[in-house]
Amino acid sequence: MSDIQTQFVKNILSGAKNNPNSCGSAFAPSNIALSKYWGKRDADLNLPINSSLSVSLGALGTRTEIRRTDCDAVYLNGLKVDGHDSFALRTLEFLHLFPDLGTSGFEVRTENNIPTAAGLASSASGFAALVMALDDLAGWGLDKKKLSMLARLGSGSASRSVFDGFVQWNAGENPDGTDSYAEPLSRDWKEFRIGILEISKARKPVGSRDGMNRTVQTSELYKSWPAQANRDIETIRAAIDAKDFPTLGKTAENNALAMHATMMSAWPPLIYLQSESIEAIHQVQRLRSDGLEVYLTIDAGPNIKLLFLEKNTEGVSEAFPGLQCIQPFE
Ligand code: PMV
Repeated sequence: MSDIQTQFVKNILSGAKNNPNSCGSAFAPSNIALSKYWGKRDADLNLPINSSLSVSLGALGTRTEIRRTDCDAVYLNGLKVDGHDSFALRTLEFLHLFPDLGTSGFEVRTENNIPTAAGLASSASGFAALVMALDDLAGWGLDKKKLSMLARLGSGSASRSVFDGFVQWNAGENPDGTDSYAEPLSRDWKEFRIGILEISKARKPVGSRDGMNRTVQTSELYKSWPAQANRDIETIRAAIDAKDFPTLGKTAENNALAMHATMMSAWPPLIYLQSESIEAIHQVQRLRSDGLEVYLTIDAGPNIKLLFLEKNTEGVSEAFPGLQCIQPFE
């Protein structure tokens, strides 16, 4: 927690209402970026170097309840989390950015309905749900733009989880972070499918925060990344408007692999992919050359997210038995 963060929170909350409730609760969906956020221009305010575009995962995400108590207690999926665990530490550190809530502690109950086996990051939906539950507890009545900026302080990708559907997080330019927030694209695509191919459940050796910093500081290839990311967003937006799936898929896949190229060319190298990830990438290429429209995206980890349309669900599921299929617009 820094003075800059505390001041930022104060500014966002100035003029907020004050209608406190005894309990605050909220749900936020998880999201997967089609054009990735990779690199910070300000670590304190979590300001990105480039804009990003994601799709939220509908009913898959985090539900959080929060109450005032004498001493802090954090529960995850019904079980009390040890106070030294990184999940409890990050949650409580974030809550201490809000000192004026008239309590010495919080009880936070978080339920993730994203199967843990899916290997999906829960920090995006987690911080978005936490901010929205706090808003409910305090009765601030903040608009989504402000909620997105507060969620951003917890985790960059959380700024996008405040919304459903396709979402764009504008990097912004202001050093004070007031123009860096997410907005919904207000487009749906009922046939859009995401398949989660779990390669590993293990916690990644280098988290995204450190991974980004290392890449920005040491990767020669990173120099070309911001321009590519901003170009890819425009291409993907146009593809969503035109429902042009091959263009969306190709651009999202290329964007993810370009991001991994910047990671690999960092020093020490960041290699999140495992041999099974590479195997799956080859299999997707083979399927495409056999005429099946399937593409992939990968975050800072080994797990693969397949992108395809409803009509190809059977073909993709046959090629990847055990695939978990998500319908983001249902
Ligand atoms: O918001 P963070 O710190 O979890 O970073 C997210 C980074 C990526 O998942 C790799 C990309 C993205 O835009 O979600």
